[in-house]
Amino acid sequence: MAGCASAARSVMRALVLSDIHSNIDALEAVMAAAPPYDVVWNLGDLVGYNAAPNAVLERVQQLRDVSVRGNHDRACCGLYDAENFNSIALAAVRWTQRQLNEGSVEWLRALPKGPIYISAEERTAGPHSTRRTLAPGRLSTPVVRDGESTFGRDDKPDYKSNPCEIACVHGSLRDEDQYLASIADAEEQPIGPDCRITFFGHTHIQGGFAANADGEWMKLRPMYSKDDAAESYALDLRGPMRYLINPGSVGQPRDRDWRAAFALYDDEADRVTYYRVPYDVRLAQMRIQRAGLPEMLASRLRVGR
Ligand SMILES: [Fe+2]
Repeated sequence: MAGCASAARSVMRALVLSDIHSNIDALEAVMAAAPPYDVVWNLGDLVGYNAAPNAVLERVQQLRDVSVRGNHDRACCGLYDAENFNSIALAAVRWTQRQLNEGSVEWLRALPKGPIYISAEERTAGPHSTRRTLAPGRLSTPVVRDGESTFGRDDKPDYKSNPCEIACVHGSLRDEDQYLASIADAEEQPIGPDCRITFFGHTHIQGGFAANADGEWMKLRPMYSKDDAAESYALDLRGPMRYLINPGSVGQPRDRDWRAAFALYDDEADRVTYYRVPYDVRLAQMRIQRAGLPEMLASRLRVGR
């Protein structure tokens, strides 16, 4: 049944969402198009930029997901001084602060700082179990020392047979506000044999990075052929590699593709599938205009920038 958590099972499929940014129209399109899943991992920035913060928070709270906080979440609930935001982002923060009710502010303030780690046995604990299986703040073993990766030089762990862990962050493992935008950024990440896959957001760019057993990184970018219909792109994961995976932004993509972005991680198939789905972008733009938010926030949605 599309869009609904499945019955109890021994493997796990995680719907990975990020950077919804108060875009309820994009979020509803994603939830309608989502394949069956057991858990939702939400990588932060639920609010900011778009004009439906309360509707998005209500919808997300129904999902019983694992969420980490993003910089816009912190700014909108008063945990972070947004004075260093650009003027358009700051206008949206101030507007969002006026819209949020007390319960929403409290809920945002309680969002954990990433990374959140999810181990192999925790992943098989069944649906809706993630609230009690969080292990925030436990850092994995760094594998980059003195600028050189030690991963895989002497031993090449088989992640499919060893317990492995997954991390969920907003920016990066090092810093919740870091933009993982380049291979140089990826090379700095402390990803080791006990942390094979890190799901991250913040850049609003779908794709990510992968490293082979010799520590050589490459960019991942799903390839699509359309720009006005739903599409998916499957990435089969390989045992000795490690991954930084960005599901893309639900509510404000910046990779020149206006369609809402998300991903599904299937641990039995050992696969990440990226998705893009069209949504009623005109409606989202009208909400921004009616709210009196800067026009640029509406116009950028249609061009994915
Ligand atoms: Fe964001």
